This record gives sequence, C-alpha cells and structure tokens, in this order.
Amino acid sequence: MDFYDVIKQRSSVREFTDEPIPEETLRRIIGAAYQAPANDHFRDWHFIVVTDKAMKRAVLEGVPKNLTERDADNMTFLSDPVQKESFRFAVPKQYSMLMNAAAVIIPLMKKKVDVLHPADLSHLNCFASVWCSIENLWLAATAEGYGCNLRIPRGNEEETARQATGFPGEYMIPCFIGIGRPAPDAVRTKQLLPDMEQQLHWQKF
Ligand SMILES: Cc1cc2nc3c(=O)[nH]c(=O)nc-3n(C[C@H](O)[C@H](O)[C@H](O)COP(=O)(O)O)c2cc1C
Repeated sequence: MDFYDVIKQRSSVREFTDEPIPEETLRRIIGAAYQAPANDHFRDWHFIVVTDKAMKRAVLEGVPKNLTERDADNMTFLSDPVQKESFRFAVPKQYSMLMNAAAVIIPLMKKKVDVLHPADLSHLNCFASVWCSIENLWLAATAEGYGCNLRIPRGNEEETARQATGFPGEYMIPCFIGIGRPAPDAVRTKQLLPDMEQQLHWQKF
C-alpha cells in the first residue's frame, strides 16, 4: 500500500472478526515498531503479545467492563458534538475492543526517569520515543490489513497486567494495543479534522 494510503486508512478499530493473526505477520509489525526513532538509541522496549483468551482475561481484569454511553456523557472535558459522539461509541467498548482483538500487544518502556513528574521536557524523551514505536506498529498493522485500538491504563490496570504477565517493576505500560482483522461493519468514528490552512504557518505565526 502506498504510504499516504496507509496514513489515510489508519483509524481506531474497536470491532474485529475472530481471525487470528499469523505469528510472522505479528513479528513484521513489531519489527516496524523497532524502526521508530528513539531518543537514546537503545530501543530497549519490550512487547508482550497476548493471544490466549484466558491470558487476555487475566491481563485485562482491571479494565472497566460495564462503561456506558452515559459514562462518556459525564466526561466533562468533551466540548464538541463530533468528539462527544466518538467517545459515546468508544467508552463502552474499552474492554471488548481488547478482549475481542486477535492479540493484545503490551509495549513496555523502562522507567529511567519519573515520567509522571519530569524535571524538564527531556525527561519525557523515553515516553515520546515509545509512542513513536506505537505509531509505527499501528501503521504497519494498517498496511498489513489489520486494525488497532489503544487504551491508556488507569488505576490498577497496569499492576493487574504486570501480575498476569510477570514483567519487572522497572517497566511501565504506555498503552494496551488491540489488534485484529476489522469486522466488515466495524465503525470508524467520525473525526474532527482541522482546516490545515488555519493552523499552518510559514515563517511567522
Ligand atoms: C495518546 C492516545 C491515547 C488514546 N487513548 C485511548 C483510550 O484510552 N481508549 C480508546 O478507545 N482510544 C484511545 N485513543 C484513540 C483515540 O480515541 C483515536 O485515535 C482518536 O479518536 C482519533 O481516531 P482515529 O484513531 O480513528 O483517527 C488514544 C489515542 C492516543 C493517540
């Protein structure tokens, strides 16, 4: 697929078929993640791929299962109707979009600095780098005909996944990634796309 077609095709997919993903395809997709730029050259990210249903259940035990559209409506930071509609669709799917994905991929980054209390912007470099790898992974999955979704772990979700998979305490999870073959009728939520000309500046703001 042409690079710009991949960019256009990529979107959050929260509904999947039951089709498993071949291991070599998952390896290619994760290989693309390791091609991402990294601040310190180490690329010492790990990825845990969970395909086993019982393991997925254990890993995702902390993710809320019964969120509703009303929970989305109660999110006070939502201001725009398109944004609200997108959250109304996504919020109730937080558990099923991961549980029903062919694989849950858990990226792990080493906590070399306190990213929750950075002393300056450069202390977030390791966090920014792992997110570059996540975008590479997402684009590679799209190019392979698969879809992805993301969930940021909240509350005890990271600790639950740690206990289920046994990754060491020096690592943190930037997000859970659900990946699978999009269901034929999978909803792609409408997006707010800014008018680039209003936000693009040449030489001066
Ligand atoms: C940093 C980040 C955090 C996100 N967190 C979540 C999340 O917790 N749950 C979810 O369903 N989607 C999450 N998303 C996906 C966004 O909702 C989605 O990318 C956005 O609505 C744009 O839609 P698109 O991916 O279809 O273009 C996240 C995306 C990013 C980049």
